Amino acid sequence: MPLKFSPISEFFSAKASGIDLRQPIDSNIAASIEKAMDRYAVLVWRDQPIDEDQHMALTKWFGPLDMGLLPITKKPNRFKHRGFVDIANINADNKIMMRDHQSVTSSMANQLWHTDSSFLPTVAKYSLLCACEVPAKGGETEFADLRAAYDELPPELKEIIADLIGEHHPLYSRMLLGNRYSDEQLSNITSAHWPLIRTHPGSGRKVLFAPIHIHKIEGMSVPEARILIHELIEHCTQAKFVYRHEWQVGDLVMWDNRSTLHRGRRFDYTQRRELRRTTTIEGDTSPA
Ligand code: OGA
Ligand code: MN
Repeated sequence: MPLKFSPISEFFSAKASGIDLRQPIDSNIAASIEKAMDRYAVLVWRDQPIDEDQHMALTKWFGPLDMGLLPITKKPNRFKHRGFVDIANINADNKIMMRDHQSVTSSMANQLWHTDSSFLPTVAKYSLLCACEVPAKGGETEFADLRAAYDELPPELKEIIADLIGEHHPLYSRMLLGNRYSDEQLSNITSAHWPLIRTHPGSGRKVLFAPIHIHKIEGMSVPEARILIHELIEHCTQAKFVYRHEWQVGDLVMWDNRSTLHRGRRFDYTQRRELRRTTTIEGDTSPA
């Protein structure tokens, strides 16, 4: 059966089907997926229970691995491969972690509207998130289309932000939620600087790039910058720009971090939620 993409919501997102992702893909399939990603920005694959090796093999078709916060948090890895991002509430003994465990509270920043790794100097491209265990209710992931959001930005705001540069800090969203870091932890951390308006390379479309990682804007007071980012996030996340994904075990969702925001939703923290993520950066796409 050939690859098939069926649009989900008005501006973006599609259900993808037609191949078994447990089998190796080839460069033609990878190119078709990239093309669909340029158009839809979020692809939802149902019933694709891939294991860690298959997940990693698939990821590598879409660019070098992004290590995200791993070099900073030095979180122990439960996985076979370095480069999986652990957002589960499960520890190395396969037990559910207490809801106030530092790993759980730190992951809660995922529930603020963000893009993955925009605080790094590399450009995060795709994230691939796969559902191993999901709570009975809640714990959805929502995505917002930043191209449609840019297109519909009021002209006055477009003008205000035209030349602005955001400073994205690796721990700002976590600190917003009250997580604290020592001076030593903070001392080596640098922000990444990105324009608020960027052009998405694959589609040529302009994008309003204002994730919650922005803690400052060059040349602007901190309060003015933060209030502006909140206003822009509010604009981008209007219901018409949002797709809400309700997870089933075996789902794989891929999104383009250059053209979307996303956030997780609340769930019962006494239940297991095990999702495993890889992220790639722009660069060579021939798999290693
Ligand atoms: C992520 C993320 C949201 C969620 O894995 O990057 O933001 O629903 N996840 O857990
Ligand atoms: Mn994320």
